[in-house]
Amino acid sequence: MKDSQINPYEHSDIKVKLLKLYLEKYINILALAKGVTTVEVYDLFCGEGIYSNGKEGSPVIILRLIKDIYYKAKKNSNVKFNCNFNDFNSEKTVKLSNYISEKKMHYSEMGTLNYYNEDYQILKDKIVKAHKVKGAKRFIFIDPYGYKNISVGDIEGLLSDKNTEVLLFLPTQFMYRFEKKSTPESLYNFLAEVMPEEEQGMSSSGVDFIHKLRDGFGNKLKGKHYVDSFIITRNINEFFALYFFTSHLYGFEKFLEAKWSIDEEEGRGWSPKFEEVDLFSTIEVHAKTNKFEENLITFLSQLRSNIEIHHFTIENRHLTTHTVQILKKIQNSNNLIVNNTDRSKPRKGAFYIGWNEVKTKTVKCFIKYENNGTI
Ligand SMILES: C[S@@+](CC[C@H](N)C(=O)[O-])C[C@H]1O[C@@H](n2cnc3c(N)ncnc32)[C@H](O)[C@@H]1O
Repeated sequence: MKDSQINPYEHSDIKVKLLKLYLEKYINILALAKGVTTVEVYDLFCGEGIYSNGKEGSPVIILRLIKDIYYKAKKNSNVKFNCNFNDFNSEKTVKLSNYISEKKMHYSEMGTLNYYNEDYQILKDKIVKAHKVKGAKRFIFIDPYGYKNISVGDIEGLLSDKNTEVLLFLPTQFMYRFEKKSTPESLYNFLAEVMPEEEQGMSSSGVDFIHKLRDGFGNKLKGKHYVDSFIITRNINEFFALYFFTSHLYGFEKFLEAKWSIDEEEGRGWSPKFEEVDLFSTIEVHAKTNKFEENLITFLSQLRSNIEIHHFTIENRHLTTHTVQILKKIQNSNNLIVNNTDRSKPRKGAFYIGWNEVKTKTVKCFIKYENNGTI
């Protein structure tokens, strides 16, 4: 057995950290959301939950989070969380189940706890065909060792109920290396689904390959689902990636918040170097938003509503806090026109691009950039 299969490396810590950060936001919201009755969480390649070095794997992280949130929200919520842990190796799920019982991590009032030892292909088909329950939401974590089992069509199938979010880990570095020479058939099939033939084998770096895959997924699912990536660097020039898929702008926004909270500078990914900077430097990290600022200014060359600006921000994989900062800067240099729809005098710094307005589709104002030669 390979060492990496016993001890997750640092990059695995980041994988579960992002999973945790995102799920925390997602579950907290669903616990109190109107109309939501059940949240089905699937970890389809769950592993054993606890490693010999004491590190916790995804199912343990998921369950602890659910338990904490369930008991915090209990007074105001009736939502049940059903946990579904699958690994085709039954020894792993036995170990996991023993650990969960020993640590008293689950109580039946929280929802059901199910273990499966199915092949991913079989279980995934069962999930797609499962009877749709009103008010049910699904979160699916897919963390295989390789990529052989994975197909974009399958992910699309999982997302098709429009109430499902998928987080997928891919060993993109191995795929990138193979993409360059002697592409195995499984990878060839995978790439054929997402990348035009002329682009295959053309990536200039591992990171470029990750972004090409992201854009390939994005094009394939365009108009139906949002896609983003998060890069995890293991060694110099060794890049792995998490891909996130959702049908909901709001889910997408929460994912962006999670990834920008790990990489405050670029919202792109994590590398061991960042941690050194965090440890040894007291310099504040600022988001690099220059490119986005340029795009936003172009977008605002015509009047745009607060709702349109929110969508533009999220679709450009940025946060509303970035947009507010940029708009304030433009406003301070007197290059911003804000017209409130109720004809009231605009309040400085009020742009109404938060989720409350977006949720209710309330058009509060129209905003335009007008260069007065001062920016
Ligand atoms: C990368 S590990 C999962 C690690 C886990 N997410 C964690 O955080 O600890 C992949 C797991 O998938 C299981 N596995 C591999 N192929 C599978 C398949 N086709 N169907 C189901 N499980 C599979 C392996 O036994 C292994 O435990």
